[in-house]
Amino acid sequence: MPGTELFGAEEKKEVMDVLETGILFRYNHDNLRNGHWKAKTLEKELAQFCGSKYAHAVSSGSTAVATAMAAAGIGAGDEVIVPPFTFLATIEGALLGGALPVFAEIDETLCISPEGIKAAITPKTKAVVLVHMLGGMARIDEIVDICKEHNLILIEDTAQALGGSFKGKMLGTFGQVGCFSFDFFKIITAGEGGALITDDKQIYDNAHMFSDHGHDHIGDNRGAEQHPILGFNYRIGELNAAVGLAQLRKIEYILARQRANKKKIKDMLKQFPEITFRNLPDENGDTATFLNFFLKDEATARRVHEAMSAASLGSAYWYDNNFHYIKNWDHLKNMNTIAKLPIEMMEAPQDYKNLKLPKSDEVLSRMVCFLIKVNWTEEELDSYVAKIEQVLKEVL
Ligand SMILES: Cc1ncc(COP(=O)(O)O)c(C=O)c1O
Repeated sequence: MPGTELFGAEEKKEVMDVLETGILFRYNHDNLRNGHWKAKTLEKELAQFCGSKYAHAVSSGSTAVATAMAAAGIGAGDEVIVPPFTFLATIEGALLGGALPVFAEIDETLCISPEGIKAAITPKTKAVVLVHMLGGMARIDEIVDICKEHNLILIEDTAQALGGSFKGKMLGTFGQVGCFSFDFFKIITAGEGGALITDDKQIYDNAHMFSDHGHDHIGDNRGAEQHPILGFNYRIGELNAAVGLAQLRKIEYILARQRANKKKIKDMLKQFPEITFRNLPDENGDTATFLNFFLKDEATARRVHEAMSAASLGSAYWYDNNFHYIKNWDHLKNMNTIAKLPIEMMEAPQDYKNLKLPKSDEVLSRMVCFLIKVNWTEEELDSYVAKIEQVLKEVL
């Protein structure tokens, strides 16, 4: 959780700017806010950092995905290709908008594969929602080509990969829209918050309106406007934006530290012929938030993970994870909803309960993962690396 490791005077200063004016709302009150526009400044700096024309901040990564879909014109009855390994927000965003998720296989990139996408395309497919999972990237160039060929909208859920890139181009800028999360567990955090980026003025305008009840306050004025569309309140508040802004200014430091720390662990792991690594199509663009590696089979991966856990080395075994893999999404499989979702009144494109994803199972069941920290001292990291090495020598 890199962002949370770095709270300091910078976050406090940005928050105090807002508290001293008392203007917690992102629009209007120009004379009272002492020149502080935290949401607007966050958007400007995020767009600059990503190299995109527009950024729009919202209340969470989940609402960023929902807003992106609505802004790109994805709605009821549209099939949307999604990964089975993500946080469920990606799928919920589609479901709440009435779209129909179609799960496609992932590969050793841990993201949906071009082959998986091709196999999932039907005449009803409108979009691909690609998740750059665990800080790394998909085979994004091939996926862009497929989307162009089939005239599909590409939305990048970059919630877990802010600052990642592929051949020098930032993740989130390959499709029509990129989405970010600044929740408490992300590379940078605003407590809660999110954003979307785009080069498409119409999508930006749509997102800005949709996330604020359809107000057409393009820019910052709110009051004398019309309501061309229906929307909802997905606004970010100034306090969250203030924290996010201070954190965004630390992103280069976070990435540099993570990359150096990850390299040290990875270099040590390379001595074990039993280990192979996650496929990173451009290793230089990895955010290095996690180190993921594969063992030869599920039994070996489980054995390694258990030994790491017993030694308190903080490994994760995502295949069993409750929140991130479809295997344990019983609420989705059983459509456990309070009120009916649109999909329950339509024909679901897949039988979610009995869905078979053998490639995704095979990839995830063999994978073990470590979280990379920013604030490790040299001694702490050396000792961590030595302990992992010792455990692996005993187990493999
Ligand atoms: C891939 C992905 N998309 C979307 C989200 C949702 O973000 P938030 O928690 O800010 O709503 C998350 C959060 O974990 C995520 O990992």
